[in-house]
Amino acid sequence: MKTDAAYELLRQFASPIVAITSAWQGRTNGMISDSAVRASIAPSVPRLSVYIHKWHFSHDLIWTSGRMCIHLLHRGQLDLVHQLGFASGRERDKLASIPHRQGMLGLPVLEDRVVAFEMRVINTMDAGYATHFLGHVDAVHPGKESEILTPSWFRANMPAAWQEEWLGNYRKAQDVIEQHAAIEDRRWTGPARS
Ligand SMILES: Cc1cc2nc3c(=O)[nH]c(=O)nc-3n(C[C@H](O)[C@H](O)[C@H](O)COP(=O)(O)O)c2cc1C
Repeated sequence: MKTDAAYELLRQFASPIVAITSAWQGRTNGMISDSAVRASIAPSVPRLSVYIHKWHFSHDLIWTSGRMCIHLLHRGQLDLVHQLGFASGRERDKLASIPHRQGMLGLPVLEDRVVAFEMRVINTMDAGYATHFLGHVDAVHPGKESEILTPSWFRANMPAAWQEEWLGNYRKAQDVIEQHAAIEDRRWTGPARS
């Protein structure tokens, strides 16, 4: 993993660790992110934004469906972070062994969660290597009241056996980002028709 003094300061801006689920035409998926942030201060306008790398399977499903479900996680969910955040769901169904049900927007809602927000994508912004998705919350699914999982707690408590894989993934993503930092003229025009 590449770092320097300025990046270590930028890293302080990370948000809680969340699981993001998506669905399109019968295929479902889940990933992990630490870049979801509140995007409105009005309770009547509940919004979150998140950036998702373009090479992730989740990116394709969210871009096409215009839907995503963001779950706040608790500290007992390190295994879930490993299951969803270390390998892509392109080749296998990562949610097959993770208890979940279908939510109001047809998205997978994980049974174990602090809370889940089912959202409609209402706009996007291109970042070259990623898309920033702005979501409007249509359904809230409260779960277990417990201490939320943060990136710093995750890094401090991640099993040693995962370290190498995690750093390798981080490095690979940094390489792609460096090669694709230029903004693309790509406009999201709403969900595809099913
Ligand atoms: C702690 C942690 C934070 C992550 N944050 C992000 C993020 O903010 N954006 C992103 O695109 N990927 C992030 N990832 C990487 C994806 O979760 C991971 O590459 C996942 O395997 C993508 O799965 P998919 O291809 O099935 O969508 C993170 C992974 C971890 C472990």
